[in-house]
Parts: sequence; structure tokens; C-alpha cells
Amino acid sequence: MLNSSNKAVVNLQYLDKVALISIDYPPVNALSQSVKSGLLDAIAKANNQPEINVMIIRCQSKTFIAGADIKEFGKPATEPFLPDVLETIEKSPKPIIASLFGTCLGGGFELALACQYRIALTQTKVGLPEVNLGLIPGSGGTQRLPRIIGVKQSLDLISSGKSVTVNALEKSELFDAIYAQDLDENTLNFAQNLSNSSNRISKTLPEFMLIDDDFDWEIQKKSIVKKARGSNAPVAVYDVLHHTHQMKLKDGLAYERETFLKLRDSEQAAALRHIFAAEKKAAKPSQQATALNVNHVSVIGGGNMGSGIATCALLAKLQVLLIEQSEEALSFGLERVRKNLSSMVKLQRISEQQYHDCLAQLYGSCDYHDLQKSELIIEAVFEDLEIKKIVFAQIDKHCALNAILASNTSYLDINELALSVKQPEKVVGLHFFSPAHVMKLLEVVNTASTNAQTLATAMALGKKLNKIIVEVGVCFGFAANRTYTRYGREIQQMLLEGATVVQVDNAMKNWGMAMGPLAVQDLSGIEIGHNARSTQPFPEHDQGYFRAAATLVAANRLGRKTGCGFYAYDEQGQAIADPTVDQLIKEEAQKLQIKTKDFTDEEIVHRALFALISEGLTLMDNGIVQNLSDVDVIWVNGYGFPRYKGGPMFQASLMGAEKVKQELDILRAQFGNLIWPEPNLKWLNS
Ligand code: 3HC
Repeated sequence: MLNSSNKAVVNLQYLDKVALISIDYPPVNALSQSVKSGLLDAIAKANNQPEINVMIIRCQSKTFIAGADIKEFGKPATEPFLPDVLETIEKSPKPIIASLFGTCLGGGFELALACQYRIALTQTKVGLPEVNLGLIPGSGGTQRLPRIIGVKQSLDLISSGKSVTVNALEKSELFDAIYAQDLDENTLNFAQNLSNSSNRISKTLPEFMLIDDDFDWEIQKKSIVKKARGSNAPVAVYDVLHHTHQMKLKDGLAYERETFLKLRDSEQAAALRHIFAAEKKAAKPSQQATALNVNHVSVIGGGNMGSGIATCALLAKLQVLLIEQSEEALSFGLERVRKNLSSMVKLQRISEQQYHDCLAQLYGSCDYHDLQKSELIIEAVFEDLEIKKIVFAQIDKHCALNAILASNTSYLDINELALSVKQPEKVVGLHFFSPAHVMKLLEVVNTASTNAQTLATAMALGKKLNKIIVEVGVCFGFAANRTYTRYGREIQQMLLEGATVVQVDNAMKNWGMAMGPLAVQDLSGIEIGHNARSTQPFPEHDQGYFRAAATLVAANRLGRKTGCGFYAYDEQGQAIADPTVDQLIKEEAQKLQIKTKDFTDEEIVHRALFALISEGLTLMDNGIVQNLSDVDVIWVNGYGFPRYKGGPMFQASLMGAEKVKQELDILRAQFGNLIWPEPNLKWLNS
């Protein structure tokens, strides 16, 4: 089998009595139709060679097989099917060794489970991430893994979709050997020893899954359903294991396959495939250039944002200089970074060793002369353009000639900020979300003067920081806060029109949002958005514009920090519905002469969703995002939009352009075209 550049994707080589089957299908050796056919072919040939005793399946390039080929999903399935290939491997008369390194995921891990032997390099990651694509493993993962490591650990792994390093599974029967280095050489030695042994296939799978005596199916089910929060696949994993745990392998495999095929054609799977592809697309810079190496970064400002950014740079093994104005502020800033890291140790996100390694890379200064070493400098000072200009002037004076200057502003005009330095082409926005070391989303702001190399470097840094990156253009709030403002506006308007705080939050949460929008406001502080909006002219056409929030700010109900906001809070910090808030908002609505009515939950979700769809289309029209699906990436990763619903623009594409137009026309007729502008539907059709 050849790939598109006419290179064989599977190569067979004989080394004495060992057949070496090498997969060469970059970037991740996915199990495409060509790879599966190539494997069957190579295995058949090796089995027919009398002098061959043992086979090895290994991969070229940077990883073992990372799964079935996602690019083939959604197309008609063609033979050979993966379960059949794995059955051939499992039943091969000559033993097959899987030689694992990199990320061995999904179908790749299932292939390894079907092999008679598994050898791995330390730090290899294994996992069955199918639930992240709305699926369950479809080629034996739910059946073979619990027969080797037991039902409890398998359920945890498969229903979470998480991958683990092989070291974490060292004590199980999963691996026959784990090596720190020289994988190919060691695997070959292992194979040669096996070839000389009289009992080459010494292991068979147990007849049934392994289950501890104290294992409780009901407790597991409750926990999985709770964590799944509306996503079908993790619950299907439970159902398959529960239903098949006393079945023979053959029957269990058939049941697994049936469930896999049903899920593959579901709307949730389509949504999750969409967002997987959207994230990859969003991470590609709009202009191609070679990124500069970044090993040393400086962060100006040690407040919550700055210390969070410094923390995530340390976690990415960068050297970090934190700059503050005074020794006192600096020691607070450094302490915040330490606290961030130690809370990660407590949550077992990092080890004690990583904590110390990170701190060894951190230092602080109050002197801008120390910026010389940094390849990239991020300012995270107070959100005020004039203050940021002063800081940029200092950076400009002292940084290395090649250094990139980044601003962490969430709203301000970086085009203007860029013009205040000697090399505006070296300026870029890096808009982190709070807390910066926890939140996955990063907006990379491509200003009017940013050059291709600066952009490529900023995006490469985002990837190194393990962020989900979206390139955006300059406008007030960029893409994320701008859509969030539009969403917030609609939520607030519905409060004025008669929806209650609790009703709005429950409607959005029951639909799948991670949190109710008003509970989010209370958490982040109602005055933050209020202050940002106050820097802009008031939209005269929209008298009710964020009036509910303004009313609460005037009453000093700023959220959790003041003990009350849209909700009241008890001593344990539990939110309690507070009728005085609904009353305050009602009075404000009366002043504004807004007519009130009863809302249904569907209506609330509909208005909120269409506000996002409308703003998303406008962002595309204004060239603020490169792809419509970037809006989905932002909402899924930044604002708790249910991943299994694919994002607002995916929801729009499910409805189709005609239906979206009809619904927006109705809203425009009711509320006017300044709030609901005529959409450019070409973006939904492209
Ligand atoms: N199929 C096809 N292409 C894949 C792929 C897959 N399974 N996994 C990754 N790729 C592609 C990406 O789309 C990207 O392509 P691009 O360069 O054209 O954008 C390229 O490989 C590199 O991917 P990343 O940028 O994500 O590279 P990283 O090094 O950061 O991560 C990875 C590599 C950990 C493998 C990550 O890509 C990943 O998690 N992939 C998904 C793996 C997965 O979900 N596997 C299960 C598939 S479902 C399955 O196997 C069903 C089975 O049970 C029958």
C-alpha cells in the first residue's frame, strides 16, 4: 500500500527469524484504510515465511499509532475493518509484539491489546480517548483491557478518555517490558529471545473480565453519569462493560461494535468531530513563517493574571522572569506563583519534583534592564491603555532587539499600543483567560502591524503552553469577549423583560452550559465587565444595555466578593435565590418602560444561542476570526459551551442557513436591526 506521495505506508523487513513490520504514515500513523491493508498484507507474508518465528509492529516518526483515522470518519467505511485486522493479529500463529512509544491511543492501543506482547518506552502515553469523539472504543478496547487490568481501572480510563503514561500501569500485566531508551534495539532482543523459546505464545486472555469483589456497578454508574453531564458516550462505556462483563470475548466484541456504530452516526459524535477538527484549524496561523525559539519569557506584573501566566510558562519548562514595580509587589507576585504551583501539587496535577523544577526556573526583578535575556515579554498590568503604553515604552527601551512584545489586554486597542514602540511588527496580543494556568483558551491577537514571524512565534508559544489557540483580529473585546458581551447583553435584556435570575441560569445549565451566566457574573465580579463597558460610548439604540448589571453595581452587589450579587450567599458560600434582585431589576425595567412577560426555558436558550450565532457571523464578516468554527472553539474552551453540542456555529449549521435566517428575521422584526443585524449567510454555506 502506498501513500499519496507513493511511499509504502507499511514496510516489511526480515531480520534473521524476526519480521519487522514498520508503519510509516505521518503525522500520527493513524489506522487509515491503507495502513490496515498494509498490515494484513505484511502479517500474511510473515506468517507464510517458514523461517520467521516472531513479528514486531512498530512505527516510524514521532509516535506509535494515535488511533483510527479520524479523517475517514463520516465517509462510507471500506474494508478491511479494524476489528477484523485485530482478530487476525490476535489469532496469528506466530506471536506479534507491539513496540510502543509516543501516544498510543484509540485504535492504536486496541491494536496493541490484540498483540500477544507489548513493549514500551517509559513516558509512552496510552489511552482510549474515543469518548472525546462521542464514541466508545470500537475494536475491542472495552473487552480486552478489562481482561488485563480489571473492570474498575478500565472503566475509569475509558469513560474519562484520559491517557496515562505506561509507568502508571507498570504493575498490571499490560506490558511485558518497559525500557527507558533504545526501544528498537530492546524490542529486537526481546523478539530474538522469544524466537529461541519453545513456548512463544504463552499468554491468552482470561475468559471473562477481571472484577474486584468489592466492585459496585451502581456507584460507578452514578459517578459516570454525573461527570458526563449530558454526554452520551461515557454512559455508553458503562453500559457496554456492565452488559458484557460475563460474556465470552466474541459476544462482548459484537455488542461493543454494535454500540460503537450507533454512536458513530449520532449528532453528538458529529459535534465532537467538528470541534476536534475546529481546534486543529484554529491553531494554524493565517501567515506562514518560521517561529523563533522561546526559552526565556518575562512577565510584567505579578497580579492574578501575571502570576497565572508566569505559572503556565513555568509548567511548560520555560525560564521566567517576573517584573514588578516594587520589592513588596514583587514578593507578592512570586508568592502567588508559588501558591498556584502548590495548589496544583495538592490537586495532584503536578508532582513535588515538578513543583521544585518550576520554581528553580523562576526569578524576579524590579529592574527592566533584566529583560535583555527574554525572547518574549508579556505585559499583564492594569487594564488601561495609557498605563500599558508607559510599560511598553520601558520594555522597548530595555529589551533585546529581536524580542517579541505581547500584551495580555482583554479589550484594549493593541493596534494603537503597537504604534507606541520602535518595532510595531514585533507586537502581538496574548489574551489569556483567568486563571491563566488553568484555562485552556488563548486568543492570539494579530494586530494591523504584527508580522508573520511574530504571529508564528506567539502561536507556537501558545502550543508549548498547552493552550487551545485561536488567532483573532483587533476589535473591542476581540472575538471572545465580544461574543461574550453580546451573549451577556441578551441574558440581561431577558431579565429586564421578566425572566428571573434562577430561571435564566437553570435554563442555560439544563441545556448544557457548564454554569449559569449570572452565577458566572457573580464569580468573576459584576463590576469588571461594567467598568470595561464604561470606557465605551453607551449604545443609544439599546436603552436596556446591561442595565440589570448596572443596577446591581449601584447597589454594591458585585458578586461573591461582596457576599451578594445576582444571588445571596450563605455562610458555606452556597448561592441562594434572592427575590430582592428580581425586584430591583423589575423596578429598573419599569423605569425604562420595558414590557414584561413570562419566559419559557426554550425561549431563553433560543435568544441566548441566536445572539451568539448573530455575533459569530458578524465577526466573520469583520475579519476578526479566520474560520466560523473559531467561535465554537472559543465558546467550548472559554465559556463552558457543551462540547458535545459542538459550539454555537455548529448548532447554526445543523439548523441550516435558511432556518437561521428565518429565526433572525423574526428577532429583527421584534427588536430592530441594530441589535439583530441582517446576517451574511454565506459563512454558513461555505
Ligand atoms: N486521525 C487522523 N489524523 C489525526 C489523528 C487521527 N486519529 N490524530 C491526530 N491527527 C492529525 C491532526 O489532525 C493533525 O493534523 P494536521 O497537522 O493536518 O492539523 C496532526 O495529526 C497532528 O496532531 P496534533 O496537532 O494534535 O499533534 P500533537 O502532537 O499535539 O498531538 C495526538 C498528537 C496526541 C495524537 C493528538 O492529535 C490526539 O489526541 N489525536 C486524537 C487521537 C484520538 O482521538 N484517537 C482515537 C481515534 S478514534 C478510534 O481510534 C476509534 C477506534 O476505537 C475504532
